[in-house]
Amino acid sequence: MYKDLEGKVAVVTGGSKGIGQEVAIRFGKEKMAVVINYHSDEEGANESVEAIESHGGEAVAVQADVGSEEGIQTLLDTAVDHFGKLDLWVNNAGMENQSPTHELSFDDWSKVMSVNLDGVFLGSKAALNYFVKNNIKGSIINMSSVHDKIPWPTFAHYAASKGGVKMFTETIALEYAHKGIRVNNLSPGAINTDINAEKFEDEEAKQKTISMIPMNYIGKPEEVAAAAAWLASSESSYVTGTTLHVDGGMTLYPSFEKGDG
Ligand code: BGC
Repeated sequence: MYKDLEGKVAVVTGGSKGIGQEVAIRFGKEKMAVVINYHSDEEGANESVEAIESHGGEAVAVQADVGSEEGIQTLLDTAVDHFGKLDLWVNNAGMENQSPTHELSFDDWSKVMSVNLDGVFLGSKAALNYFVKNNIKGSIINMSSVHDKIPWPTFAHYAASKGGVKMFTETIALEYAHKGIRVNNLSPGAINTDINAEKFEDEEAKQKTISMIPMNYIGKPEEVAAAAAWLASSESSYVTGTTLHVDGGMTLYPSFEKGDG
């Protein structure tokens, strides 16, 4: 636990399930106040709220589309109205779908970009604006993916969005470092969440994924949440613009493991 996180106010987008839910719950354990954003899973968002409160934190669930300025404004307003301020913004909401690129519809491309990249821009902009105006040395954590680095055929839109998130993070980290605002990129590998549930029901597909992970297991959402708590805390006070891979070594070119090449 990080003592300095107690009483801090965070917005977590996509906090109703998967990694976002686990990050939100971890913040609850840190006794923070959390605005849980959800898109359609109200039940999941309420579960997050209950879990946070049961750990001694405070929470409120808010429906909003992160790809819209109004949605983002609602999240910021909720943080300030309910909890009096904002210290941390986690752009976690994300989506993926698969298609050969020559058949990928512009609609599917646009949906992924809206949540994964527009959402990160709009959320970061709102948080930066609030931090600058109120002279707060706040922090932003963007949830990327190992596919900000590893090409992913048939997921070109997803990989493009995550590569974009990484460079956006680095750019704004540089732009606002002199104000003491930190911006970091958290980049998970294959994690046991809803986004992968269908794929991992197929044992063969699951084993194939595991064979691509040097540590030989699918990560737990709690392992990503632990990294988020560290990046949020003052224990990482000198860390900005970094991309922290939480991936069991997936980005380490596993096919070279035995010295082939
Ligand atoms: C995706 C997962 C995938 C993992 C590793 C993540 O960004 O959301 O579906 O298993 O990358 O390829």
